Amino acid sequence: MDTTNLDINLSDNIPEDETGRQYYYIEKARLYVQELSQRIGRPLTFCVTTFGCQMNARDSEKLRGILKEIGYLEAEEETADFVIYNTCTVRENANTRVYGRLGQLKPRKKQNPYMMIGLCGCMMQEPEVIEKLKKSYSFVDIIFGTHNIFKFAELIVQRFSSGKPVIDIWEGTDAIVEDLPNQRKYSFKSGINIMFGCNNFCSYCIVPYVRGRERSREPQAILREIRRLADDGVVEIMLLGQNVNSYGKTLDHPVTFAELLTEIEKIDKIKRIRFMTSHPKDLSDELIEVMSRSTKICRHLHLPVQSGSSRILQKMNRRYTKEQYLELTEKIRKAVPGISLTTDIIVGFPGETEEDFQETLDLVRKVRYDSAFTFIYSRRTGTPAANMEDQVPEDVVKNRFQRLLKEVQDIASEVCAVHEGTTQEALVESLSEHDPSMVTGRLSNNLLVHFPGGEELIGKLVPVYLKECKGFYYLGELAG
Ligand code: SAH
Ligand code: SF4
Ligand code: F3S
Repeated sequence: MDTTNLDINLSDNIPEDETGRQYYYIEKARLYVQELSQRIGRPLTFCVTTFGCQMNARDSEKLRGILKEIGYLEAEEETADFVIYNTCTVRENANTRVYGRLGQLKPRKKQNPYMMIGLCGCMMQEPEVIEKLKKSYSFVDIIFGTHNIFKFAELIVQRFSSGKPVIDIWEGTDAIVEDLPNQRKYSFKSGINIMFGCNNFCSYCIVPYVRGRERSREPQAILREIRRLADDGVVEIMLLGQNVNSYGKTLDHPVTFAELLTEIEKIDKIKRIRFMTSHPKDLSDELIEVMSRSTKICRHLHLPVQSGSSRILQKMNRRYTKEQYLELTEKIRKAVPGISLTTDIIVGFPGETEEDFQETLDLVRKVRYDSAFTFIYSRRTGTPAANMEDQVPEDVVKNRFQRLLKEVQDIASEVCAVHEGTTQEALVESLSEHDPSMVTGRLSNNLLVHFPGGEELIGKLVPVYLKECKGFYYLGELAG
């Protein structure tokens, strides 16, 4: 696509503050999109596809916000002129999927001269990936990483004005750029970044390398954003960070996560507060206390354990033992009765023996999780675990994985059944995917309930009688 002959003037005064600078580029990009749309006689469209965690989902909302401001219309990936993949690299299979999908885009780009492809997110922070893309996927138009996502509009302008592919990857940043556009997926609930990066360096994990060092946002900026969301109809918020329990420690005026929660609770229109993820080593008594008093913090805690073997936990650099973890969960259950506990577990970490694995099964039976995400260990280049001896053979790992999955699922369906016959508040999120005469609501404990109802209920908090537990969700009916 030749855009270099478009008559867009880029030599005006560019604002110096980063937010102002990006709004300047949003304006410029809008002119390009306008001219192009006129030339081809139809609007240009985009699709952002997200891989990975809630952090990436939130970043994608920012990308979407900028694209809408620029004048792109949202469309399905199959027809979009601008396809963006926001990538994840936490496990190898996330990478494989991106390469596969890119391969499928190539012929489409040949057919559509106005098509652009953008890649961003965690995978782009790996130098080997960039090398591979340069060599075998040179048809990609814009590549950027996790640290400069706020520059999206500027990079689009650069692509248009130069007519050449743009690759811009930063190794790290201290910058947190506030107040840029974003386009929420749901009108009534939203994620909010409270911190970026991670300092924990669990030995298997690539996140600290691709997301950089831990940085907390100023509490005033977070509260301002939440108030604005609340005025815009949001009733449920999810505070996001790789380790929210260490929020605020590095600020000039340190603030604890529990203090932040207490301030957020005072915002009237916010009815539900969730957060993710909690590292067990940093979960304070102060936080448990705030949770036990709160009427807004949801009765759900995601507390990744990773393994039930203290020996493996040490090799993972998690900095707690099986016993400490069990003590912590007991303390939480005592302080917040009925709380739902969920977790992440890795199977097949280097050196994991059958005895270690039995410790994990034992822990799962003791805690009785409401649900657990189970992962097969994936070797990530550059992490300490990748070079450890005794990588566990694939067939052994698969066998353990299946046994763990069965245990986790059996327990989860028993735990779920406990609430059968009670009435609980649900936030209605959508029409049911399987039956349009039903809606789907989320309970405080994060489980879903499907019940008869129409579109008018979406975004409302309503009491629902939980008639029947179906293993991982309920069938219910509106109460009262
Ligand atoms: N910050 C969060 C987790 C982010 S990654 C925390 O510490 O809890 C989400 C999950 O992916 C992790 O909890 C872990 O279970 C899993 N994971 C991370 N690296 C992995 C790897 N190399 N192989 C398999 N699973 C991994
Ligand atoms: Fe990865 Fe550990 Fe940081 Fe979580 S706390 S992102 S598992 S290094
Ligand atoms: Fe994946 Fe990056 Fe999240 S590696 S899990 S998208 S922080």
